[in-house]
Amino acid sequence: MRLSGKTALITGAARGIGCSFAEAYVREGARVAIADIDIVRARQTAAEIGDGAVAVEMDVTRQESIDSAVTQTVEALGRIDILVNNAAIFTAAPIIEINRADYTRAFEINVAGTLFTLQAVAKHMVERGGGGKIINMASQAGRRGEALVGVYCASKAAIISLTQSAGLNLIAHGINVNAIAPGVVDGEHWDGVDAFFAKYENKAPGQKKREVGEAVPYGRMGTAADLTGMAIFLASAEADYVVAQTYNVDGGNWMS
Ligand SMILES: NC(=O)c1ccc[n+]([C@@H]2O[C@H](COP(=O)([O-])OP(=O)(O)OC[C@H]3O[C@@H](n4cnc5c(N)ncnc54)[C@H](O)[C@@H]3O)[C@@H](O)[C@H]2O)c1
Repeated sequence: MRLSGKTALITGAARGIGCSFAEAYVREGARVAIADIDIVRARQTAAEIGDGAVAVEMDVTRQESIDSAVTQTVEALGRIDILVNNAAIFTAAPIIEINRADYTRAFEINVAGTLFTLQAVAKHMVERGGGGKIINMASQAGRRGEALVGVYCASKAAIISLTQSAGLNLIAHGINVNAIAPGVVDGEHWDGVDAFFAKYENKAPGQKKREVGEAVPYGRMGTAADLTGMAIFLASAEADYVVAQTYNVDGGNWMS
């Protein structure tokens, strides 16, 4: 019960990694807002988790939706102690095929969505005092570029940088900002990634997934459950002295 009595807002938590974090936080004694643009699925997820979870509609690309989600979460849970900026989309294309619409959408969700949600929740944390924990979802994609993944990689590099700046700025208020950089995590997100590679590398469906799994030093793709230990740690008082860091949880794919 390392998060006993705490409250958390997790963006993009209707499915995948965010959903696993929500389940894990509730198991550790927290109450959680499942915030997602897909409100139908967010409600299902909250109902499956049961007591301790509420669904909140949120589009991280719209400021009024961010503000409304923060207000709804505070109304439902009393306060926000923990924010996980998890909502993001993947996109891929060779450099000469990248278009401005895809770039803008990915940066609006992955980067601006993270920054302005972080800002709205940090304002709440500063106003009510007592600090807080903010966890941003980066990626091994933010550690180095990839030939077909220019936009997504750049968006995740931006998350690592924003985590550093926000971490240094907000620790004066007792708010710890850190990030998790997963490697390859099986789930619906990676089904979409696999489809991009099937298209651009002429692979059979499922082939890219098999290849990336076999290439992980640990010997397989990650699961959302592989990440929950780090997510709980960074949200807990055990991480009070951890500031502006990005932790790789990737089975050994990247070392830094
Ligand atoms: N799965 C992986 O291999 C992997 C690897 C590295 C990093 N990550 C990162 O981890 C995080 C979670 O990944 P996942 O695999 O669970 O992804 P996912 O695609 O399964 O889930 C993303 C969630 O975000 C929501 N969302 C999308 N746009 C939104 C918006 N505008 N506002 C609010 N919610 C929105 C979706 O509805 C979905 O529920 C992401 O930041 C992703 O980039 C994932």
